[in-house]
Amino acid sequence: MQSKILLPVILGTLLLFCISNRGGATKCNLKNIVVTQTETSEWAHGMSVYAVTVKNTCDCPQSNVMLACDGFNTTLEMDPLKFQYRVDGGLCPLNNGEPVVQGHDVNFKYAWDPPFPLQPAKSTIACK
Ligand SMILES: *[C@@H]1O[C@H](CO)[C@@H](O)[C@H](O)[C@H]1NC(C)=O
Repeated sequence: MQSKILLPVILGTLLLFCISNRGGATKCNLKNIVVTQTETSEWAHGMSVYAVTVKNTCDCPQSNVMLACDGFNTTLEMDPLKFQYRVDGGLCPLNNGEPVVQGHDVNFKYAWDPPFPLQPAKSTIACK
């Protein structure tokens, strides 16, 4: 008799827990991908060289990270596996789409004047 009442209560509690856990607590988001740039003292064909560091500040890896790169261009040759730019702009893949992991920053350099904001636009988060 008692278990007939208890079972729905337990199931209901579990269901509620699942829903609230899914809705509320996304652990990491795109804001955890942090881009910092510093102007170096180097020059490339008359343009200042900028050193870019992309950091993941949360312990869920993020792959397919795209940076906004409208108008991007560089006078310094770049490794497309780090940052693949296209002069028609839009979104540029970082790290060849491979996961950006906390503690393993992605670093690259480019040269232009003025610098580009290169803000994260999109990613796939591995854990929620
Ligand atoms: C990009 O920069 C290179 C080097 O300065 C230049 O030759 C080229 O015309 C530029 N491309 C665009 C689309 O601005």
